[in-house]
Amino acid sequence: MSVRHFLTLLDLSSDELRALIARAIELKRRHQAGELYQPFKGKVLAMIFEKSSTRTRVSFEAGMAQLGGHALFLSPRDTQLGRGEPLEDTARVLSRMADAIMIRTFEHEKIERFAAVSRVPVINALTDRYHPCQLLADVQTFVEHRGDIQGRTVAWIGDGNNMCHSYINAARQFDFRLHIACPEGYDPAPDILAAAGDRVAIVRDPREAATGADLVTTDVWASMGQEEEQAQRERAFADYQVTDEIMECAAADAVFMHCLPAHRGEEVATSVIDGPRSLVWDQAENRLHAQKALLEFLLG
Ligand code: CP
Ligand code: NVA
Repeated sequence: MSVRHFLTLLDLSSDELRALIARAIELKRRHQAGELYQPFKGKVLAMIFEKSSTRTRVSFEAGMAQLGGHALFLSPRDTQLGRGEPLEDTARVLSRMADAIMIRTFEHEKIERFAAVSRVPVINALTDRYHPCQLLADVQTFVEHRGDIQGRTVAWIGDGNNMCHSYINAARQFDFRLHIACPEGYDPAPDILAAAGDRVAIVRDPREAATGADLVTTDVWASMGQEEEQAQRERAFADYQVTDEIMECAAADAVFMHCLPAHRGEEVATSVIDGPRSLVWDQAENRLHAQKALLEFLLG
């Protein structure tokens, strides 16, 4: 069988994704019970980071260690990638030494080129276009707190960015409704949106998007690589902060999530992210459990 990659949520079937979430919940329970589970003795995950990271790096590294394997941190600054060695050559070499490769980079096309020649599974740990690993943790967190996400309503308030694109794919795969509120000029990519059909709707008013939602979520206004647009984006998104007033429009038991890092006072009010409806710490922790389930699926 050909090697499986995880470049977007569409690389797994809906059934595989649902099974993976159930497995993540089980691995979390076993880890919290202090059970040692080390099926990956002698296995190596190579991790290429072309952008900063706290959660992704630590969750993959800790996850591999807990499963009995090892993770290698590679930065372009001190590998030949940063000195112009072709991406495909790096992919061919690394995939003869490591059992899986995780990449955080800018252009999504780069990870596709890498995967096309890799002999081992390649995992997208964030590109400018998608952040699928985060969605595994987000869905796990919702399921743990509120049950099945199928048929529920999610409100995305903010930029039509990589996280928003992965929410659109998640709406398709997990079968929920997604209301996106973003200012004009910051819509998600039309092709990603069109493929989701009428499950996903764009509105301009964040209150309208939040109305009746079971989950309200957002992300930074300026993503990594967009730092010079910060001031312009602060103006464009000024009306898109997730406030208590917006949370009041949502369902009575609605929860709040944010992939983090967060900018309190910009995309989210302090009272919301630090308030009783916020699940952000469970959500961050679940990166560990969900990615252990992903590694098990891809390497198993
Ligand atoms: N949410 C997330 O991917 O965080 P890091 O950038 O810290 O990895
Ligand atoms: N949209 C953000 C997500 C960070 C986890 C970024 O790409 O910087």
